[in-house]
Amino acid sequence: MTIAVTGATGHFGRHAVEALLRSGVPANQIVATGRRTEVLNDLADRGVLVRRADYDDEASLREAFTGVDRLLLVSGSEVGQRERQHTNAIAAAKAAGVRFIAYTSITRADTSRLLLAAEHRATEQALAASGIPVALLRNSWYLENYTGQLPTYTQHGIAGAARDGKVSAAARADYAQAAAAVVGAEDGHAGAVYELGGAPFGMTELAEAVSTVTGQQVRYTDLPVEQYQAVLVAAGLPAAVAQVYADGDRGIADGELLVDGADLEKLLGRTATSLLDAFTQASRS
Ligand SMILES: NC(=O)c1ccc[n+]([C@@H]2O[C@H](COP(=O)([O-])OP(=O)(O)OC[C@H]3O[C@@H](n4cnc5c(N)ncnc54)[C@H](OP(=O)(O)O)[C@@H]3O)[C@@H](O)[C@H]2O)c1
Repeated sequence: MTIAVTGATGHFGRHAVEALLRSGVPANQIVATGRRTEVLNDLADRGVLVRRADYDDEASLREAFTGVDRLLLVSGSEVGQRERQHTNAIAAAKAAGVRFIAYTSITRADTSRLLLAAEHRATEQALAASGIPVALLRNSWYLENYTGQLPTYTQHGIAGAARDGKVSAAARADYAQAAAAVVGAEDGHAGAVYELGGAPFGMTELAEAVSTVTGQQVRYTDLPVEQYQAVLVAAGLPAAVAQVYADGDRGIADGELLVDGADLEKLLGRTATSLLDAFTQASRS
């Protein structure tokens, strides 16, 4: 059985390939794809098949998926282009005879009002229309969305617009391990819809975790969505990115990134990495 992973040049896909290898899948049965294949040289040295695949180039996708049985389609990072790009990947998978696709979607993509959900919803619809058996891995936020801001938090405090909402963020490596468990299974998971996330926390708990780990009192300041968006623009983010981030916090306030965590723990066979552990690791790196 040959398993392909798109976005293997990125963080999530790399974790997924490593998890497949750890689980015992032979390296020569894994196809790691992306555009920047030069960052996959170490995997090639370990026997993983490395193939260039560009979501904007259907021929490259068809070639990359040749002989592939099961595909982990990791959503792309070019927001606004992804419906077309993912549709290209699905068409190429169909043409190549791929028998199963696991797709990294977003929490309750079918009904979510998050701006980011539209492309995932369209992709889920394209997957359904393809007739290929599918598992949907609907991921909530990455914990790295928060741990990556540790220096900002300690310097400026935490600002947001999530009010008293909670988010079921989980470590990217945990989501990737769960994805590897699904795509790496001999069969099964077809038709599954997994709502994946970790133990929920609110922004006050986020501030507490940061304070505990750094030994510095860090506070959370809640702002109206438009004001938070303006703060992000003033901090240097492009307006469109600031809008998406602020809308994410609006979504947290409205419970749109909250799941019960059971699906992730079931796929992992253990508890997910906690907020405190994630910040402890981040503070050491
Ligand atoms: N749930 C969350 O909180 C959250 C947060 C951030 C992102 N995400 C989503 O999760 C995905 C994986 O996250 P990540 O942390 O691994 O992101 P990442 O490190 O930025 O990796 C993105 C991957 O997408 C690939 N990609 C982008 N455009 C492509 C194209 N046109 N053709 C082929 N490959 C393309 C990149 O490949 P190359 O670099 O080789 O072009 C890279 O491997 C993201 O792309 C995004 O959809 C979710």
